[in-house]
Amino acid sequence: MSESAAHAITAPVKVAPSILSADQLDLGNQVRKAIDAGADLLHLDIMDGHFVPNLTFGPGLAGRLQQTGIPLDAHLMVSNPGWAIEAFARYAEYLTVHVEATPHLHRMLRLIREKGCKSGVALNPSTSPGFLKYVLEDVDLILIMTVNPGWGGQPFIPAMLQKIEEVSELVRHSGLPVEISVDGGISATNSRAVLDKGAGILVSGNYIFSSDDMASAIESLRRRTLVNC
Ligand code: DX5
Ligand code: ZN
Repeated sequence: MSESAAHAITAPVKVAPSILSADQLDLGNQVRKAIDAGADLLHLDIMDGHFVPNLTFGPGLAGRLQQTGIPLDAHLMVSNPGWAIEAFARYAEYLTVHVEATPHLHRMLRLIREKGCKSGVALNPSTSPGFLKYVLEDVDLILIMTVNPGWGGQPFIPAMLQKIEEVSELVRHSGLPVEISVDGGISATNSRAVLDKGAGILVSGNYIFSSDDMASAIESLRRRTLVNC
């Protein structure tokens, strides 16, 4: 285990169910079940039909979800996300924009913090962590996509383990309190591996919402490899 991962094991794991995989006809019940099952955050995938070829939720739903009391982790898969930051900031704790979605990443991250939210930056599978170097001081969360954005239920891309480790090293060397999140294909079969590499927030849709026992599913994601240190 790397030094960064050993460092990361002291922090509690946060689990963020992605409601993209919930039964949309039964969304209220599904959300309440996820909260009762121990979810730390609710992950809300906002898609614009342009940055990704899919459409999802608007600010109206974010407002209703906020009333449940669980903090919202809004993942903006939208091109030129300034308008979406303005629209969702009042409802979300975390607002995450994609490196690939804007030529003005630094300004977007500053805007998110100005709005009182935690600023997140997401990396597509092919995007290098090098893009983070000069914005790290403006970032509260790095979201590493472990599938291509756009849909739930895709298989985890194993090559992303190395990226999680590289990002953990970058954060550790900076000394900044940046959280690392992973999103896509996360289940109990790979959660230990991503936690060992330094992830601290696990976004999971299909695994949690297709489970008969959400509390056990969420608990299974929190399990770390036990180490003597
Ligand atoms: C993909 C989304 C993910 C997705 C994860 O674009 O960002 O949040 O809902 O779902 P699973 O865990 O099913 O891959
Ligand atoms: Zn997401």
